Order: sequence, then structure tokens, then C-alpha cells
Amino acid sequence: MVRYGTDEDAPSSTESMAYNVTLIPGDGIGPEVTNAAVRILEATGVKFEWESFEVGAEAFEKYQEYIPKELTESIERTRVALKGPVTTPVGGGFASINVTLRKKFDLFANFRPIRNLPHIPTRYPDIDLIIVRENTESLYSGLEHEVVPGVVESLKIITEKASTRIARFAFEYSRKNKRKKVHAVHKANIMKLSDGLFLRCSRTVAKEYPEITYGEHIVDNACMQLVMNPYQYDVLVMENLYGDIISDLCAGLVGGLGLVPSANLGEHCAIFEAVHGSAPDIAGRNIANPTAVIRCSLLMLRHLGEHDAAWKIRNALDKVYRTREKLTRDIGGKAGTSEFADSVIEAMESVAAAPQPSRA
Ligand code: NAI
Repeated sequence: MVRYGTDEDAPSSTESMAYNVTLIPGDGIGPEVTNAAVRILEATGVKFEWESFEVGAEAFEKYQEYIPKELTESIERTRVALKGPVTTPVGGGFASINVTLRKKFDLFANFRPIRNLPHIPTRYPDIDLIIVRENTESLYSGLEHEVVPGVVESLKIITEKASTRIARFAFEYSRKNKRKKVHAVHKANIMKLSDGLFLRCSRTVAKEYPEITYGEHIVDNACMQLVMNPYQYDVLVMENLYGDIISDLCAGLVGGLGLVPSANLGEHCAIFEAVHGSAPDIAGRNIANPTAVIRCSLLMLRHLGEHDAAWKIRNALDKVYRTREKLTRDIGGKAGTSEFADSVIEAMESVAAAPQPSRA
């Protein structure tokens, strides 16, 4: 059964066993930001046994495989992974590791909560919306070929099965979390068959959830509406490519790519990774913002049923942002990645492991 992070509910696990978790530090800023998240996770008192693996170009140098067999075996065993970003070569080279892992483990739902952190100046305060991105098909099918020299075809695959299950995920999440509206984002005015099928599936599923208002916006309009008035949205569901692009737009609304987490969820496994990429322009300098990966670990803790630890991290993050003394450069501070992590760990000593009445 697919699980996903909610803010309240369910008591924490009382077991003191260690969780086996697959760790993929990734490349670029990946090792720096995942290291920060791992230190914070360990400071919660929850016990972890990490099974750590390289992927992509680094793995190929050592094992002649972009995704080592041991890594996939580890995920099959642990069913939970925390992943840093991995560089994908542009216009050639190996296929995206991220897309390959999502397909291999059928992680069909990409869950991306978009929320402001306290005291980060943005145009809109108190944004609270959820992006639900279909994760396995659309133009990410990888089916591309040169028809004749100078003419290339990329195939967009949309199926009834995948569209129905992502719509059901969005509505189920909304019902369980008392969300009021779901909007399907599409381009069915142009892609009448593929996006038309996606919409038909969304409409069919919507009928089973009469308490939730269902709406549809064409993707270009949705971008403009998000920039003009993001408060009109609650939960947005869309195919893969639109989800990729709209997630970055929404990250911009709440302070940038360094802040937004995501969970890739399937029936059997879950991989938690930031929305951002490997940021080669700032890699290796200890200046990346680890907040997105820290928020991923928070989603992971909720997935594991460790709600107290998740609240501790969330409240500590809020405290660090409220006091503004140790923020990273992307949001106007001077602290390094590891210094930021230190201050979250320090804040964890003085915050509650429960929801706070006011986050402001
Ligand atoms: P990017 O997200 O790596 O960087 C875009 C901009 O945001 C850069 O200016 C970067 O410095 C900044 N940024 C990103 N994360 C940040 C953080 N934590 N703290 C502070 N600033 C941050 O996107 P880009 O440059 O398009 O992609 C770089 C590589 O990452 C590509 O090879 C791409 O394929 C890969 N990528 C991997 C993903 C993954 O592994 N899940 C997701 C997105 C991209």
C-alpha cells in the first residue's frame, strides 16, 4: 500500500530496531546535502542501518554499471531509499538514473508538497499546495528515434492504467488529508488523444469523490495562474513532464530549489529525493542548501511511521529559519551546508516532538 507524508495523525513507532535504508548520495551537491540529512536523521534518536551506493558516471567507473546490481537488490530489500541528485548527460550519454529507478520500482506517484518556510521573503506567504506528478510515462518513455536525417520523433505514452492510478492517488491523498480541491493540469486542446485520455481518467475518478471539487486547467494557463494567484490551488495532478516543469515553478514561489522535497511512491518501495538537481555550479563548496533533502527525510520518517522524529525535525527547521542566523546563501544567509545542519541539530534539543500551535 502506498503511504505518503501527512502532518498529523498516527502515533509514532515505539520499536527500537534500526531501519535499513538504502542511501544514494548522488553527485554534484548530492553528497554534501545528503550527509547533512543523514546527520540530522541520526540525531533524532531513530536508528538507521545505511546501505550506501554510488550511481551514474561514478558507479560506471568502478563497476561498469550505471546502476549497480547491488543497489537494486538493496532497494528491493529495504524498500526505502534516501537519494541525492544525480547528473544526467544532456543530448546523449546514459539514460537518467532517476527516471530508470522510478520505472524499475514502479514508483508511479511523485508527491511534492510546496510550502513556505518562516521568514523567507517571497511574493506569497502561506502557500500550501501539493503537486502529484505521474512518474512513469509521458515523454519520459525514452522512446525516441531519427525517422530520417534531420527529423526526430519522441513518443509520448499515456495509458488509462497509469492515468487512473495517479488520479486515484491524488484524490485519496486529498480525502485522507481533508484537501478540498483537485485540479488536473493538461494540454488536451492540442494533444487531444493523449492528454484527452489523461483527463477522461481524472474525470472518472473525480466522480467517486463528490466532497472534493474537481477542476481542469490547461498547462500554460496553470503556469500563469500559479504566478498570479497560487492560493486558488490545493492539489494539482498532472502527467510527468508538466509535473517536472511546474514543480520548479512552484519551488520558485516558496524560495527556490533548495527548499522543496519529493517522495517517489509505489506499491512496494519509496525513494525520497529533492526536486533540485546536482547543481554543478555550486558543487563541492559546502554552500548548497540541504533543506530540500532534510524535508525529504522528514517525509521518509512519516512514511516509516516515525512521526515524533518528523515533528522534531520540522520544528527545528522552522526555528532555524525563524532565527535567521544560520541560513545558506541561496536565501540570503552566509552559513555553509554543514553549519546549517549543525544548527538544525542544535535546535532539535529545544523543540517539541509534536505539532506547534503557531509556525509563524
Ligand atoms: P539544478 O536543480 O541542479 O540547479 C538549478 C539552479 O538551482 C542552479 O543555479 C543551482 O545552483 C540551484 N540549486 C539547486 N539546488 C540547490 C540547493 N540545494 N541549494 C542552493 N542552490 C541550489 O538544475 P540543473 O542545473 O538544470 O541540473 C543539473 C543536473 O542535475 C542535470 O544533470 C540534471 O539532469 C540533474 N537533475 C537531477 C535530478 C535528480 O537527481 N533528481 C533532478 C533535476 C535535475
